[in-house]
Amino acid sequence: MTQSKQSPSARRGSLDLTTTSGTSPGAERPAGLPPDLGLPHGGLSLATLCAQAGRGERDGEPHFPAIVQSTTFARAGIESTAEHTYSRASNPTVSALERALARLEDAPHAIAFATGLAAETALFQAVCRAGDHVVCSRGLYGGTTRLFEQILSRAGVRASFVDTRDLAALRAALTPATRLLFLESPANPTLHLTDLAAAAALARASGAKVCVDNTFLTGALQRPLDLGADASVISTTKLVEGHSVALGGAVVTRDAALAEELRFVRKCTGAIQTPFHAWLTLLGLKTLPLRIARQSESAEHIATWLAERIGAERVHYPTFEDPALAARQHLGLHGNVLSFELEGGYERACAVLRNVRLCTLVEHVGSVETLLTHSASMTHGGVAPAARRAAGISEELLRLSVGLEDPRDVIADLDRALLASAKEVASCVPA
Ligand SMILES: Cc1ncc(COP(=O)(O)O)c(C=O)c1O
Repeated sequence: MTQSKQSPSARRGSLDLTTTSGTSPGAERPAGLPPDLGLPHGGLSLATLCAQAGRGERDGEPHFPAIVQSTTFARAGIESTAEHTYSRASNPTVSALERALARLEDAPHAIAFATGLAAETALFQAVCRAGDHVVCSRGLYGGTTRLFEQILSRAGVRASFVDTRDLAALRAALTPATRLLFLESPANPTLHLTDLAAAAALARASGAKVCVDNTFLTGALQRPLDLGADASVISTTKLVEGHSVALGGAVVTRDAALAEELRFVRKCTGAIQTPFHAWLTLLGLKTLPLRIARQSESAEHIATWLAERIGAERVHYPTFEDPALAARQHLGLHGNVLSFELEGGYERACAVLRNVRLCTLVEHVGSVETLLTHSASMTHGGVAPAARRAAGISEELLRLSVGLEDPRDVIADLDRALLASAKEVASCVPA
């Protein structure tokens, strides 16, 4: 018998997500808890929902769900209506993750994919046809830009890249052929913010669907669907899983027809996440609210220190880019990613990377360790130099994804690297 068919009395300590008890909006919180907790998530705080995600409820059920690796599922007869038939279409472990991801954004549907880019590809395949037009934020993850420019163009879908901070420019870019507005806020790696509610209203008025890449904040710190988006896409490879061990992506939506189309595309193209990676992601999700709160607080602290050290105009963090919008659009904290540009150009950036000891040079964000990335050559290496410059990504820009270390240790590491790098580069730049 499946869990959903059981009577409540057959369950032990069942978590009733429809309850109105628990955390009430605006309730006073004990110190030290993550920030969103005044929000209603079916009456329970997000930290509670995530901690309990996937919990076994039936007598003798594993406390954490077992991985269902089976590729296929037995049927009682050809008229069987069993939920799972073949793991390319759906799988119990993937479904457990999907239920938890949907709750994270208060949505009825989450569809999990092998990677974040697989999720984005499925969204484009679900929404766009040859001859259609897409408008994108100019500040996008480089892989998304490459997908639009080099793959979707082959299917006859044209993309325009616009600085979506400028709503007049966005309005001018929307045409009768525009089917999709694809936004990323905060943008990778400039941390530029787009007013999601205003942008979504413009696009919907012109008949386009709106999708927000919510990878940098997750449903813990930003709720695009509440701001008017039709879909929120997330690379779970990053903060949701959090430990750099599992690839994944998801589209979250309240639009039942879009969800059905996405499941159809996934089944036809074979883009579903593997059960093992879904299982690892569910494990990571349990601690997401605590991790993202702590990592965001540390990031803001480090960004403030860096601004004093090298000048605020050289440091990018959501609250520096647009404080009023960050306060309105985010749920109390602003994410664990910042970026900075040092005097001394590309040479100086390389010298910093040679001199850090604690921060690791990788192409990744959102893990428990602090990570540094040289965006122009790594995440945005596949984007044409002119497009990179137009998006505000200079050769000296370094992106920092702040982890769970004590921020004082990270600051000491960066300080040492700033001093050493200034000595190393030929022209004597300020330390
Ligand atoms: C903002 C953003 N969106 C999407 C992706 C793509 O995710 P994945 O690597 O899981 O395909 C990334 C990857 O770095 C990203 O940073």
